[in-house]
Amino acid sequence: MDLAPIEKKRGDMRPLLEKLHRDHLNLTRLLDLMSNELDALCAGHESDFDLKIEMLDYIEHYAEQVHHPTEDQINRVAFRKKSMKEHVALYERISREHGDLLGLARTFRKSLEGAVQGEVLLREEVETRGREFIALQRQHLDLEEHEVFPLIEAVLSDKDWQKLEEEITHMDDPVFLRQDYNRFRSLIDYLKAHENE
Ligand SMILES: [Fe+2]
Repeated sequence: MDLAPIEKKRGDMRPLLEKLHRDHLNLTRLLDLMSNELDALCAGHESDFDLKIEMLDYIEHYAEQVHHPTEDQINRVAFRKKSMKEHVALYERISREHGDLLGLARTFRKSLEGAVQGEVLLREEVETRGREFIALQRQHLDLEEHEVFPLIEAVLSDKDWQKLEEEITHMDDPVFLRQDYNRFRSLIDYLKAHENE
């Protein structure tokens, strides 16, 4: 499994792919921070469970409402092309993983909520759920960036992109763009405080 960080790409991508790529960079940032938080938790340090829940809330909300639907819509058009027939297994895998990722995020959030509510719960349980989610999420991002996006770029025409641009509902990222303080105050403050890490 290639967990190499996703590098920033040149500005020659299609706007929709560039937006998805930017989402991936933001998500990678959150996964790194979440991973550090889990390391600290396992080392027995104080842990801010509310912050981690807010992170997951953002990841689930944004993935479910914006990021995955955009990818699914693009993938549906791209993988329907004749030349993409041989990649049907890849298409099925990424579609399935979108569902699996939300499932893992929910299970992880439940274990964190349990911890906040004072449930007797082993730290290992939170750690296992967290690591599980982070690992699949990273693997999935890597697959999309290195295999799926290049295939899509090669197969979709200007006309396809134009149609997709018209069909896809645009919604601004509530943390990295719109900065919705009412809903994600702790996370936004935390990101500012950890800007240089
Ligand atoms: Fe993605």
